[in-house]
Amino acid sequence: NQKKYILAIESSCDDTSAAVLCNTKVLSNVVATQEIHKQYGGVVPELASRAHQQNIVPVVHQALAKANIDKKQLSAIAFTRGPGLMGSLLVGTSFAKSLALGLDIPLIEVNHMEAHILAHFIEDDAQTTPEFPFLAMTISGGHTQIVKVTDHFNMEVLGETLDDAVGEAFDKSAKLMGLPYPGGPLIDKYAKLGDATAFSFPKPKVDGLNFSFSGLKTSILYFLQRESQKNSDFVAENINDICASVQYTILEILMEKLQMAVDQTGITRIAIGGGVAANSGIRGRLRDAEENLGWQTFIPKFEYCTDNAAMIGIVGYLKFNKGEFTQQNIAAKARYAI
Ligand code: KG4
Ligand code: ZN
Repeated sequence: NQKKYILAIESSCDDTSAAVLCNTKVLSNVVATQEIHKQYGGVVPELASRAHQQNIVPVVHQALAKANIDKKQLSAIAFTRGPGLMGSLLVGTSFAKSLALGLDIPLIEVNHMEAHILAHFIEDDAQTTPEFPFLAMTISGGHTQIVKVTDHFNMEVLGETLDDAVGEAFDKSAKLMGLPYPGGPLIDKYAKLGDATAFSFPKPKVDGLNFSFSGLKTSILYFLQRESQKNSDFVAENINDICASVQYTILEILMEKLQMAVDQTGITRIAIGGGVAANSGIRGRLRDAEENLGWQTFIPKFEYCTDNAAMIGIVGYLKFNKGEFTQQNIAAKARYAI
């Protein structure tokens, strides 16, 4: 089997990333995280496109240099076509097209959601690849999906969020407590010190395997307003317990739906991905499920969980092997279903 070098580009949201893969192995994976959004408490699309425009060339240069690869050795360019912010996607798409044209090598378009799942197929000592079929749950600031994966490119979305993503639920709850963006990791940190049964929040009633998180945010808002009227130091005095209780509620929602998906499909191999996969609570719950329910669970290395180009590169490699190349007249797609 001949060695293929894929340069991959990801620019769907607020991370500009480029990676070089040699077949299934990652030679480099450079991510420029845009700090500019912090002060706004969320991603500002207009600023994101501008930062991608500034970062893309340096990030690609760094990825090639770290991989110790000359651009003339590249076999193909893979890029994120969607879903994501249009202005952000356009930067990566246009750059990938131009470079492929200039180097006269094939272009490969990649669906970002498929890539989060196929990140499990990156060959790395720090992670294990699940066998087919498996259930993939992608949980991040932009996505919440449960997908049945029968083969690399045979995927069926069983459920997804009807409103906020789970990472947004973490971040918006944290914001209500006065914590800085992104608040997910801070909730995780304080939750470890708190009592998860101190307060209880209602879980949404959503049919099937779909999710909803916007109601939780509202009930936390009313709860904090009510308690703060009685005691203006309520949040500060109870931050650990509030975080533990909020996180517990979110994890209950995720685990209930996973259990439903397992019951429905009979599949007990569970692969998670996305930034929320870093949460120590969800990791603990999956370990419990391994011990008590006989599930097999898979979590990629953290740098392949959050938005990154290496996951785009592995899809590029798999598509290259199938001869699935993309024409130069391709356009980015803000909404792009698996
Ligand atoms: O995958 P990611 O880096 O970017 C998106 O595609 O959104 O995910 C970022 C999200 C944020 O919402 C962040 O708060 C959340 O992942 N997150 C966490 C933790 N680490 C990151 N949420 C809960 N606990 C964590 N430890
Ligand atoms: Zn993502």
